[in-house]
Order: sequence, then structure tokens, then C-alpha cells
Amino acid sequence: MKKLSFIVFTFLSIVIAQGQNKVIINVDASAPTSKIHKEIYGQFAEHLGRCIYDGIWVGKDSEIPNINGYRKDVVEALKALNIPVLRWPGGCFADTYHWKDGIGPKEQRPKIKNVFWGGTMEDNSFGTHEFFELCEMLGCEPYLSANVGSGSVKEMTEWLEYITSSEDTPMVQLRKENGREDPWHLKYIGIGNESWGCGGDMTPEYYADLYRQYSGYCRLYSAENPYRIACGANAWDARWTDVVMSKGHRMMEGISVHYYTIAGKGWGDKGPGRDFEENLYFSGLKKGLMMDSLIKKHVAVMDKIDPKKRIGLLVDEWGIWTDPEVGSIPGHLFQQNTMRDALIASTTLDIFHRHTNRVVMANIAQVVNVLQAMILTKDDVMVLTPTYHVFNMYKGHQDAEFIPISFNCPSYKFGDDEIPSLSCTLSKNKDNKFNFTISNLNPKDNQLVEIPLNSLNTKKIISGNILTSEKFNDYNSFEKTDLVKPGIFKDANLKKGVLNLKIPPMSIVNVEME
Ligand code: AHR
Repeated sequence: MKKLSFIVFTFLSIVIAQGQNKVIINVDASAPTSKIHKEIYGQFAEHLGRCIYDGIWVGKDSEIPNINGYRKDVVEALKALNIPVLRWPGGCFADTYHWKDGIGPKEQRPKIKNVFWGGTMEDNSFGTHEFFELCEMLGCEPYLSANVGSGSVKEMTEWLEYITSSEDTPMVQLRKENGREDPWHLKYIGIGNESWGCGGDMTPEYYADLYRQYSGYCRLYSAENPYRIACGANAWDARWTDVVMSKGHRMMEGISVHYYTIAGKGWGDKGPGRDFEENLYFSGLKKGLMMDSLIKKHVAVMDKIDPKKRIGLLVDEWGIWTDPEVGSIPGHLFQQNTMRDALIASTTLDIFHRHTNRVVMANIAQVVNVLQAMILTKDDVMVLTPTYHVFNMYKGHQDAEFIPISFNCPSYKFGDDEIPSLSCTLSKNKDNKFNFTISNLNPKDNQLVEIPLNSLNTKKIISGNILTSEKFNDYNSFEKTDLVKPGIFKDANLKKGVLNLKIPPMSIVNVEME
């Protein structure tokens, strides 16, 4: 019976129109809706390569136009994205970071050698005050990663007191001496980063015990009850999630997981960030789509321990990780960002949207000049990457109501392998506007799509945008900064509540309706 309904559904979903397959996307008006947590659009800024220094912070005396030391062009571009939350200071760096080195007069701050990332010497001129001011400028929630690997409970609790307290304690006096009278607001705290690896090489049993210890003191020393995030698994390692949750679930609000897309053969051969062929286009997309099974794997464990879904899953590091740009410092993880990567971003965001009852935050790695960045900088030139444009086109989904849809689409085939050619999200925001975003992964074929929206009472299209390019490895360089940029999308019409679209190959489309 199941098989029969699948065949009937497939037949209904792909109909032949004007000689071309047309995909029918059905709105499931009776299915429960959910909220797309805006924190899924979170960002990550680590002291790594040129993310903080050069990318965000150039210092007040720099010739690069800046606002009190922050790069003006970068801050303005990031403001436009409506970033909900920013994770800092790492990454692996977080478990080597001692926050007291990054406060007080800049000329007196000690230097730190960034041992994980190229051995670069940093002058600590970007510290706690600079981070919280950045969050205030961007209007986003700060998310701190506390040092468990080489730090102490005392170091963490003093940091929390310094940031959040308004009582007359030595840490508050110190903050005031350093020029900040009022406490800052801190909602999110991560307890350790990759504690199974660069953050201390721990077993899950050992980490879980440490987690309980740190997490208990967290609440005692923070003026606000912070949302405590346990360090989660390395990609598919569900045993880590199981042990840490079994031992620590009463003392956590969230647990993380990290998953990076490697288009090449593996960590030793990740594949180039540009100048690749269709095999790496296809495998990049395919490995990106695996985020769905990865989430399901961890959610199954979480459901067993926390059936009421109180605890959130935070994918607080994700994105494509390629070989570094030729000529760059390998430890600085500087890579280019192509049309393929834009599709990895759009399809991954669609996956997160479908898991909103568990996935409450995600932080793409990283915001500037590192891995799948929003922005690349070189001297005074700034480039907005194709991934930046996806985040900008998708921002209408932030905090919107997710509307379940179902469809069946042709596969995009490569060699003996295949993946679905389409990925999409439909949502309704608080102003009663609908956003429909759709990605066509097929690099050669158009796709006709029809969505009967009668049940939603949509009347007209307000705007349409498209991100596409001639080649899947097109990117924005410092010489040609806008080769891949959004344009107006004209191939959409809404008649009698039915939306019809023609989606070009290798493209991402957003249609806004009311
Ligand atoms: O994002 C780069 C690195 O990837 C982070 O520092 C670490 O947490 C992960 O391995």
C-alpha cells in the first residue's frame, strides 16, 4: 500500500508540461507548523588567520576606514544580514584563550601565540570589550566559548562576573576601571569546544563530569541564567552525544555538534576551493546534504534522553572546508567561495528549517576570511561571497513560521550517483509575508515548478531575486568583486493562488509574496 501511494504521489508530483517535467510542490496545510529560529542564521568569529585581525578589527590608527577600530565596510555589510548571534573567541582558540590578557590598556596587554592556527602572534587588542561592542553594533546576541581545555572554573566564573554582574565585586570594579560601567547582556555560553579533539582530547565520560562541574558554577556566577551549551560530537559520533547527555542533561540547555563538508577524498585531500570539475561540485553538494542524516542521528539519541525536546541541538560549526588558497598561510584557512558553496549554504539552511523542533541554532564557519566566509578582505577591498548573498536572500525566513511542503523531483545524476535536484523552504513571517526559496542543484537543466498556494490566500508577488552564475566554480575575486551577485527574478507568476516558476540550472531563487 505504501509503495502504491508513493508511485501515485510521484506521478502527481512530476507532471509533464510543455514537453518538460514540472514539479508540483504541495503545501500541507493540515501539518503542524513550527518557528524557524532566527539563531539558525548565526555566525562564528574565531581568532584564526585574518578573521578578527584584518577582517573585523584593524585598529583606530589604520588607514582602512574604521569605526573605533572596526572595519567600516565589514560592519555595514554584516549589519545588513541581521545576524542574530555571534560565537567567539573559538573554535580551538577558545581553549587556549585567557580573557584577562584581552582587557585593559591595549599597550599593556600581553601577546599570545595562536598555537592552533599558524603560530601567529596576536597582540590581544581585540578582547572582551571589543567583542561585546561589536555585538552591540551588529545588534546580535553574544555567544561565548569558555576555556575548559587549559582554563579553570575560576577563570570562567570571573569572566561571567566581569561581564554580567552589577554588584560591588572585584571583577566589576575591574570592568569599571576598564571603562565599562554597565554589565553586558550574555545569553549563551559554550562549555569547551571540541573537547574530544583540540579542546583537551577528552573521553566523553571525562568531559561529561567536567561539564557538570563547570555548568553548575556557571549559574552561580552569572547575573543572568545563561543558556548552557555542552560541547557536542565530532560529526557522526552519536556515542559522544549519548554519554554527555546521559550524564549531564539536567544541567544543560543545549548541546552542539560540528559537521564540515569535505568535497574531496578526506581531510588530507579536501579539494580546491575553486578551479574544480563537476565531480567536486557534485560531491560537495552530496556531502552537504548529509547534514540531514547527521541531525537525525543525533536527534534519535536526544529523543531517548530528552523526549520532551527541552534541550536544543546547536550546529555551531558547519560549512565547506576546502584546501586553502594557493599562496596563503595554510593554518589561516583562507579559501575562495563559489556558486557551489552558495548551494551548500542554501540547501543546509533548508535542512535546518526542517528540524526546527530540535535545531535551535547554527553558526556557519566563519564570518570573515576563514573557511566558508560571508566576506573576504584584502587591504581596503571587501568581497561579498556567494554565501553572503544566500544569507541575505534567506533572511526573510528568520523567526518565520515554517510551512510544511512535500514534493518529488527528478534527480541530478553524476556517474552512478544521484541526489535530489531541488531543495526549498516556504515560510510566513510576522508581517504575513510569504517567502519561498528554492535551489536547483542541476548544473545543466531548468526546472519548472508549480505550487498551489490557494490554502494560504497569497495574492501577489512582491519581489523575486535569483543568485546564479555561468559556472559552478565562479567566485567573487578582489579584482572582480561581483561576478556572482543576486539579480531580479522574472520567471515567476502567481495566478488564482497558483505560483509557477522556471528555475534556471544551478540557481537559488527567492520569491516574496503577500
Ligand atoms: O573552524 C575552524 C576549526 O574547526 C575550529 O577552530 C574548530 O572548532 C574546528 O575543528
